[in-house]
Amino acid sequence: MELKQEQLAITHLGPREVASPLDLSVTPGDQVCDYTSDDMQLLFEPRVRAGAAPESLALELAGPREKLFFPPAEVKAAIVTCGGLCPGLNNVIRAIVQELQFNYGVDEILGIRHGYAGLNPEQGRAPIKLDAELVSSIHHTGGTILGTSRGPQDPRVTVEFLASEGVNILFCIGGDGTQRGAHAIAQEVARRELPIAVVGIPKTIDNDIKFCFSTFGFYTAVAEAESAIDRAHVEAKSVLNGVGLVKLMGREAGFIAAAATLASGEVNFCLIPEEPFQLDGEHGLLARLKHRLEAREHAVIVVAEGAGQHLLAQRPDGCDASGNVRLGDIGYFLKAQIQQYCGAEGVPVSVKYFDPSYQIRSVSATAVDSLLCERFARAAVHAAMAGKTDVLIGLWHNQLVHVPLAVSTGQKKQLDLEGELWSSVLAVTGQEKW
Ligand code: F6P
Repeated sequence: MELKQEQLAITHLGPREVASPLDLSVTPGDQVCDYTSDDMQLLFEPRVRAGAAPESLALELAGPREKLFFPPAEVKAAIVTCGGLCPGLNNVIRAIVQELQFNYGVDEILGIRHGYAGLNPEQGRAPIKLDAELVSSIHHTGGTILGTSRGPQDPRVTVEFLASEGVNILFCIGGDGTQRGAHAIAQEVARRELPIAVVGIPKTIDNDIKFCFSTFGFYTAVAEAESAIDRAHVEAKSVLNGVGLVKLMGREAGFIAAAATLASGEVNFCLIPEEPFQLDGEHGLLARLKHRLEAREHAVIVVAEGAGQHLLAQRPDGCDASGNVRLGDIGYFLKAQIQQYCGAEGVPVSVKYFDPSYQIRSVSATAVDSLLCERFARAAVHAAMAGKTDVLIGLWHNQLVHVPLAVSTGQKKQLDLEGELWSSVLAVTGQEKW
């Protein structure tokens, strides 16, 4: 579906009449940090043919606004973390609390326990009060101090709870399922004409959220995945015809597998959900692996968990609580197939199977992700204080932008098989098209 400019318009709770306490500038060149005005936009497609005028949609830039919707003294904010863990969750919680308290002077901040369940008094635990002191050193630890869970709640119950607690800003930190939930909450808020801002912050190691070049946590997960690949390479090289087989997270998108493959530089086959591969036949994985072993006596294969699902005879039914389709185990399947094939071909092989699984996402954030967390969190606070709602903080060409939740959710971002990342993976692995 073709996107239209009007779909990128950001919803506001109402007129902004409160002067921001941030004391920034509107004068360029005065060496004082500037407010961002609503009419500053970023082209969706910055590439343009020489001589041609740019023809593109534009996204609203994120950043501090000179006038706010909420008087800081009247704000009661709440933060919820949902879905699977992701490095940097605690950094985001900390930066939201610090920005609200130190810079805007907001003292009432709640931490919602265990995802959206904590917004349903019949299911969740009571919220905890957050302040800068409590969160001062949480960014050194992986996980989320608030706890998390998968699955939505009835938005009517959630909004009833927010209203009864006097919460007027809700920060929803999570992946696509969480942001769909945030959109449903914002719609219910609008239906009831309540002054509650709902702002989403994109989180997933899979890096599959639209309008977001990189979600926080992705690069940390890639670094962890790279060390698993490097160990698999050591194992593979140490025996005759060793095969290091590494399964990595990535349900519908192969960003972790592709980026870790590139970072490691030791991978011969990188299998991702976006590109179905063949197992059998002259050009299939098994025959290619045999050639590789004949030539180099070892090989490294990286497979994203969502790759090759078409090859599995048996797959679990249904979806998890976030609505993600349950996957069959491609890792064990490949291991068995390689052993069986090599046995039949009379090729000795030793498969060393690595499944780093949750290890790549339960660690604390590396510097690159810590930096992203700070940027996302502070932009989310600026947006909320300005009364922007039903909005996701996106990252487009390294600029933070506002994206309506309605257009950023529902369909996940996937790796572009014609793009630079995948072409680099093909170059570094030497892998041909299936
Ligand atoms: O959603 C991100 C993700 O890391 C996926 O890659 C992975 O399949 C999933 O989480 C597993 O999480 P859980 O077991 O907690 O549902």
